[in-house]
Amino acid sequence: MVSSILCVLLVILEITVAKTQSTGPVVKGLSYTFYDSTCPKLAAIIRNHLNQVFQRDITQAAGLLRIHFHDCFVQGCDGSVLLDGSASGPSEQNAPPNLTLRPEAFKIINDLQALVHRQCGQVVSCADITALAARDSVYLSGGPQYDIPLGRRDGLNFATQAATLANLPRPTSNTTTLLDSLSTKKLDPTDVVALSGAHTIGRGHCTSFTSRLYPTQDPTMNQSFANSLKVTCPASDTSNTTVLDIRTPNKFDNKYYVDLMNRQGLFTSDQDLYTDKRTRAIVTSFAVNQSLFFEKFVAAMIKMGQLSVLTGKQGEIRANCSARNGNDMGLWSVKSRSVPQYGKLDYYWQIDDDDNHQQNQWRNSQPQSKSYNFNGNYYNNRGFSAPGDPDGKRKKRVASYNMYTVEGKLKSSVKNSFKWIKNKLSADHVSYDA
Ligand code: HEM
Repeated sequence: MVSSILCVLLVILEITVAKTQSTGPVVKGLSYTFYDSTCPKLAAIIRNHLNQVFQRDITQAAGLLRIHFHDCFVQGCDGSVLLDGSASGPSEQNAPPNLTLRPEAFKIINDLQALVHRQCGQVVSCADITALAARDSVYLSGGPQYDIPLGRRDGLNFATQAATLANLPRPTSNTTTLLDSLSTKKLDPTDVVALSGAHTIGRGHCTSFTSRLYPTQDPTMNQSFANSLKVTCPASDTSNTTVLDIRTPNKFDNKYYVDLMNRQGLFTSDQDLYTDKRTRAIVTSFAVNQSLFFEKFVAAMIKMGQLSVLTGKQGEIRANCSARNGNDMGLWSVKSRSVPQYGKLDYYWQIDDDDNHQQNQWRNSQPQSKSYNFNGNYYNNRGFSAPGDPDGKRKKRVASYNMYTVEGKLKSSVKNSFKWIKNKLSADHVSYDA
């Protein structure tokens, strides 16, 4: 009893103390004190619960951090990624980049919401709970402690598949593509490099990076790192996973940047930040100075966390994060469709951009970099590979999407034919090459 009271006091103290961050602009309608009167224990409820969850499995922190990113980048931080599919079509969750979000993370958010609503009533949005869960995931895995503005409302609709694909960068993107894509969200190169540092925790599926191994190996990849990855992913479509940061895979620190300097970044989008002259110095500065990384990461997360938020009377406060209020009639979860098998749906991540080809040519002309070590443990060879993904729920979702793509492919080929004719006829046709 005494120890649990002490524990709660400690959590409250932790949350109220370390607030030395320099906060950037706050969007109208959000505030750092939003729930102070309506749900004063909000932060403590979330932190206590996540503390317990992470004591059992710290890897869940990565899943929660990624969900917040996928929520914010598509249609703004409105909790739309949490919505199940409806009769009107498959949800954001079923768009290819979201198929690898962890089902456990969705469940943890629902559990948190139930806890919060039990204590405070239906006053806190799922979007805010997601943002707080991401924040605490960073802190509880060793990262900075920071405060975030709150007051987001939940969206009424999820984004289309096309919007989801268009807004989430691919792991095969080079720095030019990343900088261009993130600048549309008013994120600058420092933000891009800092946010990518979230890859200091978590895992990736083989299909997200095997285009760097097969048929030809990416020359910017360290050879022994490549050899280890080939053991984990003997073929390009293996469903295995490996960690994103080989030095300290479960610790939120700056070792991800040390990995990049040693040519041990997992995705092209990671490694190219060190190859590209515009971002190389930023990578190096974070690799040698963890406090600087933390400071820039917090600033970028606060920016990202305010993208196109709904406030005031917009949207709603959902009673259940997976469904919009009063919508159970039309609800038909695509997740529950029974479909035969887990297909090669992660194919999306294998689609290689043209820019990647050009980048490889450029890389070939680059000198091989030296080896850097900033006190990290080197997790070598098979030590950092994880077994296959046993996740039934995700497989179902992936399989569901399989069926959808067959229908979708038919529809889109008809649509594309019309588009092609329209473009041919249009005098001011613009080309959208990456
Ligand atoms: C900048 C462009 C980004 C790209 C191209 C990208 C791409 C990816 C990919 C492909 C994965 C692995 C998916 C899989 O195969 O399972 C991943 C994992 C992850 N990403 Fe990103 N990401 C980006 C930015 C971010 C940002 C901004 C955050 C958060 C602030 C983030 C947080 C994470 C985390 C924590 C994981 C591990 C998830 C897990 O273990 O379940 N990423 N990312």
